Amino acid sequence: MCGIVAYIGQREAYPIVLKGLKRLEYRGYDSAGVALLNGSGLKVFKKKGKVAELEDHLTGKDVRSHVAIGHTRWATHGEPSDRNSHPHASGNGKLAMIHNGIIENYSQLKQELLKKGHVFKSDTDTEVLIHFIEEIQQSNQCGLEEALRIALKRVVGAYVIVLVDEDNPDTLIAARKGSPLVIGVGKGEHFLASDASPIVEYTKEVVFVNDYEIAIIKADELILKNISNERQTPYIQKLDIELAAIEKGGYDHFMLKEIFEQPQTIFDSLRGRLDAKKGTLTLGGIREHAALLAQAKRIIIVACGTSWHAGLIAEYVIEELCRIPVEVEYASEFRYRNPVVGEGDVIIAVSQSGETADTLVAMEAAKEKGAIILGVCNVVGSSIARLSHAGAYTHAGPEIGVASTKAFTAQLAVLCLIGLRVAQEKGSITQQRFQHLLDELDTISEKVAVTLKLNDQIKTIADKYKDARDFLYLGRGYNFPVALEGALKLKEISYIHAEGYPAAEMKHGPIALVDENLPVVFVATHDSYYEKVVSNIQEIKARKGKVIAVVTEGDQTIPAMADDVIEVPAADELVAPILSVIPMQLLAYHIGVLKGFDVDKPRNLAKSVTVE
Ligand code: F6R
Repeated sequence: MCGIVAYIGQREAYPIVLKGLKRLEYRGYDSAGVALLNGSGLKVFKKKGKVAELEDHLTGKDVRSHVAIGHTRWATHGEPSDRNSHPHASGNGKLAMIHNGIIENYSQLKQELLKKGHVFKSDTDTEVLIHFIEEIQQSNQCGLEEALRIALKRVVGAYVIVLVDEDNPDTLIAARKGSPLVIGVGKGEHFLASDASPIVEYTKEVVFVNDYEIAIIKADELILKNISNERQTPYIQKLDIELAAIEKGGYDHFMLKEIFEQPQTIFDSLRGRLDAKKGTLTLGGIREHAALLAQAKRIIIVACGTSWHAGLIAEYVIEELCRIPVEVEYASEFRYRNPVVGEGDVIIAVSQSGETADTLVAMEAAKEKGAIILGVCNVVGSSIARLSHAGAYTHAGPEIGVASTKAFTAQLAVLCLIGLRVAQEKGSITQQRFQHLLDELDTISEKVAVTLKLNDQIKTIADKYKDARDFLYLGRGYNFPVALEGALKLKEISYIHAEGYPAAEMKHGPIALVDENLPVVFVATHDSYYEKVVSNIQEIKARKGKVIAVVTEGDQTIPAMADDVIEVPAADELVAPILSVIPMQLLAYHIGVLKGFDVDKPRNLAKSVTVE
């Protein structure tokens, strides 16, 4: 949430920062701004709306500079507007700052500063922080770095901040707690960003800044210190993403590109781990913890949104294979209800970004109480990956579309591997079933490729139903979370109200909504619940609802009842959600596009929710 980017070096900074902001726009697009330092001092430009509007606003203006900071905002404090946009300046106009996060005690700090005569131009917590730093600098007669350190000791909340100072034009100062910051190390230049996507074009060498670290960055020098002013050794890592992975590659939208990447991303998530021919499964990241996992009293999966839906499917898979009780918790709820958790419990945190604030806080709480933490996330080096005792990455590659698609199927694949590995360790699965599921996973990416061929058919169905006011999504068992995910995708992308429900639970309320105008999407592939779902379809048809059914190829029964049928390849019910979710993604995508919406940047949303 909110993207920050900065550059210091010999090149023109503005084009680098502008391009970086476009790459980070998925993190928020309420407003954008830049601050530049050149011979004529500090200049701040900002504009409500998307980065393109800032770019138009700056066309023809003098933006020459070798030092710049930029921000794309997802509004927290203060409505989206020019004046609430970042960067924010200090009272004397000499400092400018960008911020991702929330300063929770900003109101108290603001009262103190107002009494001292500070005047604020925005409603943001960020402007309060920069005035607070300025106040300390002036009252303590100290440098910016020292003032920042003192200020951060009083700040409650999460932040990544980057500061430029007109009086020190050859230095950027940054600090982090709770929100992500990556520094790209070039030859005589440094790049700062919320993630690696603005950096990868220029350098693959990066430093992931840790919580409570302050970075002092010059063109040719990077100094890291902790909050007690002790030098830290920057740990330089090599990125393994390519530029092509963060570009649209000929697709109209990132979302469509990412949906179509799934055969590859699922394959990549399984590669090197699963060898169906040899009947082996290796998960290096959890090897040392496999025995502890097999003895777990309980597994608690914490996640948000789409990752939570992946967790729900994993609950069914792990309970079935490992016979260990599994609970799936919304991270935000888990954290704040003083959960009963401790030694013997295993937490699996599932997250695409690896930066979701609620998930991080939930993990921290459980870790403090003695639980073992496993991370399943997509972004290498992310906060969730680093906070985990062990884990397994999904190898879905950068997901730029705000609606999660390929990360979800990669999570399902990896969670299934974890379930199988623990079951093997525990001896709760027969060799025959183990081998069968390895074979099923081994062929799943080919079946996803077959499913994607339904794109045109799904587009036609989307056109037929795009004007509906509401949708109901129903499924049972492994397909119930798929129904939830289908409804979430539709809401996000097309702004149509949609509800996901367990198909049987529909009778306990939502059936009242059914009439001839209500499309009901059934996820009804051939599994142990199939006959029951057929009955549920009949209940909907009896009330004249329109049924769109996702079924297994060759189904003879449901096509005779449904208004529209989408056939996916047959698969074991444990892995079938990886296939049945594809039509959900495509249906939402096409309805969103047909309604004329920007599906990559749906309103009010942002990827990587770094505020609680
Ligand atoms: C939905 C979506 C969100 C995320 C959620 C968790 O399409 O993208 O619901 O799934 O914000 O994000 P991560 O997985 O990054 O923790």
